[in-house]
Amino acid sequence: MTSNPSSTTATGAPRAGGAGQLGDRSVSRVGYGAMQLERLHGDRPAAIALLRRAVELGVDHVDTAEFYGDGFVNGLIRESIHPEDGVVVVSKVGADPASGPIPLRPAQRPEQLRASVEANLRSLGVDRLAVVNLRRLDSGPGLRADGDQVVDLDDQLAEMVAMRDEGMIDAIGLSSADLDGLRRAIPAGIVCVQNAYSLVARADEDMLALCASEGIAWVPYFPLGSAFPGMPKVTEAPTVRAVAETLGCTPSQVGLAWLLQHSPEVLLIPGTADISHLEANVAAGSLALDEESLVALGAVPSRSADVPLG
Ligand SMILES: NC(=O)c1ccc[n+]([C@@H]2O[C@H](COP(=O)([O-])OP(=O)(O)OC[C@H]3O[C@@H](n4cnc5c(N)ncnc54)[C@H](OP(=O)(O)O)[C@@H]3O)[C@@H](O)[C@H]2O)c1
Repeated sequence: MTSNPSSTTATGAPRAGGAGQLGDRSVSRVGYGAMQLERLHGDRPAAIALLRRAVELGVDHVDTAEFYGDGFVNGLIRESIHPEDGVVVVSKVGADPASGPIPLRPAQRPEQLRASVEANLRSLGVDRLAVVNLRRLDSGPGLRADGDQVVDLDDQLAEMVAMRDEGMIDAIGLSSADLDGLRRAIPAGIVCVQNAYSLVARADEDMLALCASEGIAWVPYFPLGSAFPGMPKVTEAPTVRAVAETLGCTPSQVGLAWLLQHSPEVLLIPGTADISHLEANVAAGSLALDEESLVALGAVPSRSADVPLG
């Protein structure tokens, strides 16, 4: 897939949220996180319609993982998105599908990273993956590594670089990492960082600043605070609700627009299983927050300390 620096995507749609940079690729700044599609297991046509609508709306950056529905989400992407759509599909490794209340388990060992890349290639039906995030277990909500799953970052990066050299992946990203890990990973050539971050969970401001200075895309996951109970929700912050009322938009749109205006390195991958929410999220890419709103939103307290760990 080639870079498309124009104001439209490969299909001619105006870029959702304008153009951003993901390594050497231009992508729309409003992308789509496909994890919520797991909820449409019983309604495959609805999931496919949602992905097609995303492409139609100028979304050309989609985040996925083999462990989203144990290959189900990758299968949907394979069926719905075609090479001529020019969509950059970004996957991640570092966990495998599992049964139980948390449907994944750590898979951090280098041979497991490679097996996961191979599984993604198969389920997405491609010869190489555009970007693969090495999902560490160092920060943010979710699992933590123990036993043989505690793996040195350098050993993992060596495997990721080997797979890039072999042509299995084009570019490497880092996820759920800490500042020290990011500093260590930069020499390997990192194009993006995916950490949990939103208007109400801003603990990683120092990592965002480092990404901005290095030209690395900052792709926050849980940009709205996720669908998980117990996580701080952007839409529940009273200031967000007040700004939304003043501007005549929704609290979700305020939270997403704030992220886009916070730093040009931000690329969004909000997750939804609802087409009208997808449309609202794309529209948030055209929402300009005025100075007064930005000052008010800047004073919203960060609740990163309230994020539950796995
Ligand atoms: N790197 C990693 O380790 C990692 C970890 C987790 C997630 N991710 C990626 O990040 C993406 C985003 O995270 P996420 O999906 O967990 O959380 P999120 O985007 O913060 O929030 C998703 C939740 O917000 C709701 N929502 C979305 N748009 C809305 C709108 N316009 N109005 C009202 N509600 C709205 C969704 O419900 P509806 O479905 O009803 O709209 C869902 O409940 C994921 O989809 C996944 O691709 C990456």
